[in-house]
Order: sequence, then structure tokens, then C-alpha cells
Amino acid sequence: MPFDHNHHYHPTLLRLLPPGPGRALDVGCGDGRFARKLAAAGMTVEGIDASDEMITRASAAGSPGPGTTEYRRADVTTEPLELESYAFISCLASLHHVPFETVTRLRDALAPGGVLAVLGCARPSRPSDYARELVAAPANVLARLIVFAGDQLNGGADPVAKAPVHMKFPPLNDVRRDAARLLPGSTVRPLVFWRHLLTWRKPTDHPAAG
Ligand SMILES: C[S@@+](CC[C@H](N)C(=O)[O-])C[C@H]1O[C@@H](n2cnc3c(N)ncnc32)[C@H](O)[C@@H]1O
Repeated sequence: MPFDHNHHYHPTLLRLLPPGPGRALDVGCGDGRFARKLAAAGMTVEGIDASDEMITRASAAGSPGPGTTEYRRADVTTEPLELESYAFISCLASLHHVPFETVTRLRDALAPGGVLAVLGCARPSRPSDYARELVAAPANVLARLIVFAGDQLNGGADPVAKAPVHMKFPPLNDVRRDAARLLPGSTVRPLVFWRHLLTWRKPTDHPAAG
């Protein structure tokens, strides 16, 4: 079934892009689908992923322009990232693969005024989180059926390369607590389909990293 919960939120994430062209980093870029959308929006994009297979697939897909894409195999917890240099950093369903404290490396790599956007996966913590799960289950079935039917009408879906997934999710309350501690002023918005959106804009007067 081709419906993908991460791809579903691409338009939401793209609305967070700061104006103008700039440098973007997509962490855990998988096959590069979101990185290509960033390039289509004019960004100069670097995609990093721990999987050789994903980097090979992403590189093979090229860039749609007018921006550019460049991919490298790298572990975000150790990869040297140029300080204060990215206008936009995204993590789509990848942050839970690494310790949450990794956001401090991303925070330091953001240029003043830059935006960190994390489409995260977490377990429900509050009653309202559980209520959202109840909505998600039938909505998920419906979305899959609609996409499946559409694909059948169009001659069948293209095979999708599945990125390595890690199904151990932190409780959403831990994300809320750690985001408030490490990224003061950030917001954590719960979303349907077992996702949340963590957003942080680096203040222009934020103390320089390093
Ligand atoms: C669930 S997939 C999401 C892929 C893509 N962002 C998407 O939305 O389709 C998580 C990705 O994170 C990558 N990943 C896991 N640990 C990583 C790490 N330490 N550094 C960089 N990427 C990592 C995996 O290889 C995988 O491609």
C-alpha cells in the first residue's frame, strides 16, 4: 500500500521554509523525495543518511532544479556540520533513530533566523494524544484505500524503496520536555498518523555556536 505518512506531511513542512534560496540539510533523507522538493523550492540541499542504499537511490534520482541536491552517507550524531550555516534543517521520521540530544548539533548548524523542522514519531502520552490515535486508525485505512484505488486506475504503483525504519518511539511527553529544555521557544504540534511536528526558529540574536 503506497500511502506514506511522512510524504503526506511534505506540504506542511514546505510551508515552514524561510523566504529566499538558502542552504538546507535533510537528515535521514531516505530516497531523497523531500530533498528534491526542497530543491524544487530553490534550496541548495544536502541530504545525509546512514544507509548506503538510500544514498545511492537518492543520488540516482538527481535534482529537479532550480536548486541543487547533494547526498552523502553520514551519521548525524558524528558528522561534522558547519556551524550557523543552514537556513532550513529537516528531519522526517529520522530523529527517533538517534538520541534526542542530537538536536543540539542541528541547533548549532542553523543560521540565525533559520528553521529546524522535525516530523517526529512518538508514543501518545496525554488523553488527547490517545484520542488522536483513535481517529488515525480509520483515517489510515481510508487513505490507503484511496491511494491504492488511484494507483490501480493509473496502471499500478511504482515500487517504492523503503528506508530503514526504527519502530521504537519515545513518549510524546519526553519530546515536549526535551524540546523545551534544548530548544527554548520551540513548538511541538501533535498530528494524526502517529506523527508530531517540532518546529524551532533560531533567534537572530541567539548566542553563536562553538
Ligand atoms: C523512517 S526513514 C525516513 C526516511 C525519509 N526521511 C522519509 O521521510 O521517507 C529514517 C531514515 O533515517 C536514516 N537514519 C537512521 N539513523 C541515522 C543516523 N544516525 N544518521 C543519519 N540518518 C539516519 C535511515 O537510514 C532512514 O533512511
